[in-house]
Amino acid sequence: MITLYFSGTGNSKHISEQFSKIMQAACYSIEEAVDFETLIHREDTIAFCYPVYISKVPEIMRNFVQKHKAQLSGKKIIILCTQLFFSGDGARVFTEMIEDIDVQIIYAEHFNMPNNICNLWILPLSSSVKASKVIEKAERKLIKTCENIKKGIVIKRGFNNTSKLLGWYSQRIYSSQVEDKAKKDVRINQGCIHCGKCVRLCPTQNLKMVNHNIEQNGECTLCYRCVNACPAQAITVLIHAKVKKQYTFGPQNMQTTSRV
Ligand SMILES: Cc1cc2nc3c(=O)[nH]c(=O)nc-3n(C[C@H](O)[C@H](O)[C@H](O)COP(=O)(O)O)c2cc1C
Repeated sequence: MITLYFSGTGNSKHISEQFSKIMQAACYSIEEAVDFETLIHREDTIAFCYPVYISKVPEIMRNFVQKHKAQLSGKKIIILCTQLFFSGDGARVFTEMIEDIDVQIIYAEHFNMPNNICNLWILPLSSSVKASKVIEKAERKLIKTCENIKKGIVIKRGFNNTSKLLGWYSQRIYSSQVEDKAKKDVRINQGCIHCGKCVRLCPTQNLKMVNHNIEQNGECTLCYRCVNACPAQAITVLIHAKVKKQYTFGPQNMQTTSRV
């Protein structure tokens, strides 16, 4: 078994690494410089982990799955997704990308993790104590998940019609429009110190430094890594309210050695 994950700010990375440790699976970020074709080819079970964005799979993960779809045929698939508190069918929606190939979904689960949208006033970031409790609860759920998988118990969270309707009507109905607009709309304010950290951390090479200014290619995957890591709190994505506090669990340590 291998685990392949995308994580913007550390939550999905954490779940993937813990899962892989318990299941004794190799674990790779899809940003790594690895021969994924060979890796996928030689495994019979592939676990995917990603954060849910507006009840959708992040575009960077969608592109990865599209690129490697042929190799996924005949595989057993586990879907692990992280979310703040609700996505309806955030795990099921992954299967829409692989409907036309022969795969067996053997488990799908949602894990509530701390908020990483650091500038949304209605959902303020939790204190580190509260965030740790949320993570511990997710870890307990993960242990149970691994036990179930080992026993051959199948759970497919979010696969029923109610979850599908909730995912669609509560969020996904708007998300393509929101995503299309937001992917071209990373904003850098006057506070930018031109350190280039956002350029180095961006998983899609959306940002580049041109004559001391940050420019964008219109390929933001909305991961909030740059927003949470910017030392000047000068970047916003999707929601353009001022950043006052950042989510520091993982954004500084994300893998950016290669591009998908
Ligand atoms: C653009 C965006 C959209 C999100 N949409 C949802 C959502 O629909 N439902 C939810 O519960 N959490 C949502 N979240 C929260 C993240 O899914 C959650 O914090 C996740 O664990 C972050 O994972 P990461 O640290 O691996 O990037 C969203 C976060 C972002 C940045």
